[in-house]
Amino acid sequence: MTKDASKKRIDELVDELNEHNYNYYVLSSPTISDFEFDMKLKELEKLETAFPELASADSPTKRVGGEVTKEFRQVVHQYPMLSLGNTYSEQELTDFTNRVKKAIGENVEYVCELKYDGVAVGLRYENGRLVQAITRGDGEKGDDVTANVRTIKSIPLQLRGSEYPILFEIRGEVMLTHDAFEKLNEAKTEIGEAPFANPRNAASGSLKMQDSRLVAERNLDCFLYFILGENLPFGNHYDNLTEARKWGFKIPMFMAKCRTNDDIFDFINYWNNERNNLPFDIDGVVIKVNDFHLQQELGFTAKSPRWAISYKFKAERVSTKLLSIAYQVGRTGAVTPVANLEPVLLAGTTVKRASLHNADIIAKLDVRIGDTVFVEKGGEIIPKIIGVDLEKRSQEAQMVVFQQTCPECGEKLIRTEGESAFYCPNENGCPPQIKGKLEHFISRKAMNIDSLGEGKIELLFEKGLIHNIADLYDLKEKDLLGLEKVFPASEDKKERKISFQKKTTENILSALKASTNVPFPRVLFAIGIRYVGETVAKKLAEHFRNISNLQKASIEELILVSEIGATIAESVFNFLRKESNLQIIERLKSKGIQFEVKEIIEKKSGKLDGKTFVVSGVFKHFQRDEVKIAIEENGGRNASSVSSKTDYIVAGDNMGPAKLEKATQLGVKIISEEEFIGMIR
Ligand code: IVH
Repeated sequence: MTKDASKKRIDELVDELNEHNYNYYVLSSPTISDFEFDMKLKELEKLETAFPELASADSPTKRVGGEVTKEFRQVVHQYPMLSLGNTYSEQELTDFTNRVKKAIGENVEYVCELKYDGVAVGLRYENGRLVQAITRGDGEKGDDVTANVRTIKSIPLQLRGSEYPILFEIRGEVMLTHDAFEKLNEAKTEIGEAPFANPRNAASGSLKMQDSRLVAERNLDCFLYFILGENLPFGNHYDNLTEARKWGFKIPMFMAKCRTNDDIFDFINYWNNERNNLPFDIDGVVIKVNDFHLQQELGFTAKSPRWAISYKFKAERVSTKLLSIAYQVGRTGAVTPVANLEPVLLAGTTVKRASLHNADIIAKLDVRIGDTVFVEKGGEIIPKIIGVDLEKRSQEAQMVVFQQTCPECGEKLIRTEGESAFYCPNENGCPPQIKGKLEHFISRKAMNIDSLGEGKIELLFEKGLIHNIADLYDLKEKDLLGLEKVFPASEDKKERKISFQKKTTENILSALKASTNVPFPRVLFAIGIRYVGETVAKKLAEHFRNISNLQKASIEELILVSEIGATIAESVFNFLRKESNLQIIERLKSKGIQFEVKEIIEKKSGKLDGKTFVVSGVFKHFQRDEVKIAIEENGGRNASSVSSKTDYIVAGDNMGPAKLEKATQLGVKIISEEEFIGMIR
């Protein structure tokens, strides 16, 4: 494609992709499939690679991040980022509206909004482009987190239309939905990292990550609720926010204009109940005077505006009896105490269990078995015990002695200096750890053996057929056929029957065979080295190329790889020095699992840059695949079918007649093997 034609196509794709991003992330109503979106994004990426000078800094391809910030620059806020006065009491809220009335008169219009529980950011737009994103910091100055914020897909990099002020700031809350939060925590737990306590901590931790590429993977969202600037279109808050929706911002619909205290309390009461049904966390309601002139008249105290207040919901709290403490062993061997409670209704659900975190917290709260405890559901998804009703403590209440040995395998638990959790060190002999490792190994992002699931792994483990990941590759049809087990119904699952029938068995065995094609980085992730997640595995594989180099690396050499710190380096180093792990790696190798990076196609020339080829027929000098490789080596692109975008068909003998007809129709140039060789010579 010529440069002019590419520019036109790039502009088209950028507009289309921005529109689809807006439909998907802001309006939540996509109009094309994810696949179609990805194809367009790939097309744009290719064009931008061919013509880097045509790629804009605001291109949708840049949403995947890339910039690394070692230290966040501190920036002074143009308008100080004040906080809000807050209250938990209805009386204080009435006092607030009375103060407003006294200062500016009766019949004031308020806007009630939800108080989103995330991390505040201020976004600066100049001529419709996002130029800076700053955290609240101390209110005077905050951290410049622009590179990370640019990866949040619901934040427009370029505004829609042309009716926006030349210069303004918009503030909002960076958040994680419950879904995104759970996925993130699952991924963290999977690699042996401590999960985040709540979506707010996760959002705040994510915004402060150095590598924006990792931020992009976290699926952060952002709700906007406050605009500042000189030339805003309207003289009130509500209309400006409504207008900003048209510029492409995600301005939540949960807003209402209220005039009386009754209206305000109706809004609060409605959302106090309804908040359990929202897909994200809120911690209250914000009430703002709508009119800018009236806001100005009311002014500010040293810390907060006099024209707004937040009413915070009380965390719902109930008391119930602590019946016993169970100890759960996770995939990584971490042992977590869980409280079994007398069932009690809390925030719309019956709670029977609560988190007790770790031994330190049990000691600090001085919880005893038989105590009446206070259970709260705050920002956290899992309810937690926050205290003991000492007045109700009975003589029989028993002190808690933290479990000394693993409840699953009996091994003595250990606690690493500086860590709060106890661990079972019996990595290769403790059932939940073994099963966890197997489940991780077969998971989608690892070896992707999806015909085997949790239940089947459990059954094979119970039958003594698998004790580690290498055993999977020794499984034979006769071992599997006919095995079955009924898993009884539990609190969160229905009764399930697992059975290995002919078809399933075949699928499993062929998926295991196919997994010999899984590339080394994913294998490295799959073998379950603590702290080695997908990204770390990729970095290690790219750097060391094969397992033997990785094995030889010293801790210092490991740390030299970007993103690898001391904890990861030590974990990798120790893993590769443990005899049982080395044996498993050797067995996997002997089954054909990949322990080295397959060298990727190296670009030899740019002679075919930007050209799309379809290869068809049988060749004299080359295999068909060799022609395809030669095309890519010289900068061209292979397509499987002829379209108007095809530049050349490389035709061998016996080229399909349908292809020939289509090519003639579209006027695509057909070249012979010899002509092709001439092009790349
Ligand atoms: S308005 C000067 N509106 O709450 C007024 N803030 O305690 C600026 N927040 O720092 C804030 N939802 O992080 C406003 N709908 C909303 C909000 C909201 C959450 C946060 C924000 C602010 C804090 C104040």
